[in-house]
Amino acid sequence: MLHLEEISALRSFSKGARARGKLALVPTMGNLHAGHLSLITRARSLADTVIASVFVNPSQFGAGEDFSAYPRTLEADAQALESVACDALFLPSVATMYPGFADAIARGENLAGRYEATQIHVKGISDVLCGQTRPGHFSGVATVVAKLFNLVEPDIAIFGEKDFQQVLVIKTMVQELNFPVQIETAATVREANGLARSSRNQYLSAEERSRAGVIYQTLLQMRHSFEAGDSFSKIEQNAAFALIDAGLKPDYAVLKDAQSLESIGERTKSAVALIAARLGKARLIDNISWNVKAI
Ligand code: PAF
Repeated sequence: MLHLEEISALRSFSKGARARGKLALVPTMGNLHAGHLSLITRARSLADTVIASVFVNPSQFGAGEDFSAYPRTLEADAQALESVACDALFLPSVATMYPGFADAIARGENLAGRYEATQIHVKGISDVLCGQTRPGHFSGVATVVAKLFNLVEPDIAIFGEKDFQQVLVIKTMVQELNFPVQIETAATVREANGLARSSRNQYLSAEERSRAGVIYQTLLQMRHSFEAGDSFSKIEQNAAFALIDAGLKPDYAVLKDAQSLESIGERTKSAVALIAARLGKARLIDNISWNVKAI
């Protein structure tokens, strides 16, 4: 597997790959687990060449969030990527990704939650749910993903369904800014108790990890109650109670239209149940979506 750090080396690699066939990009922040590796496997099935990026993006972390503590495990990540036959790993520095911050980087400033002059904000979808609890987060994601698309110029990019809102933000950006990139997703990989695989699961103790299985159980119960015709407010209230009973602190436990993240209505074709909850030092998110017949 090639390690690429400089833009010039990246551009010549991706130009060559596109001349030979399809190029897929899997953007990550590293600390790779089975969920990420399933994205690489999906990329392999869709493209001739697969490139992963590892970049802990400061601008998508809020000032008080875990940017400095975020686990960085480069050696293990490179080995894991080799094991699933990834062709190249792009490992940019902060200065490479954010040339507008050259002076701040030279002064050793913390860039968490800061933006250059140019920032992409996808209105609406970025401003609800996790966007309310983490203001600026999705602008950080959209901006860095746009940069990665401009640098790598992939034909396809793969994202995990666990980050449901992130996928909607990226799909909207790609459509509205005419990026010639096909966005694909891969199903959430879960522990035996249903807990979605996430780098932030390492902030949990063994006991918390087993208790966190309540998130997936609650999502399944939300879908079941939806299909049984219970009122949305009752479903959401019961979901919050189930999480609180298990010692979690929900940010939200809601049912939404899966295309717009607005309230479910007559035009809803698919619904999504989404949960964000705090447990110990971790903030965990998960979701399940399904097709709806007629409301
Ligand atoms: O999902 C993630 O790991 C990040 O938000 C992403 C898409 C790599 C952008 O930094």
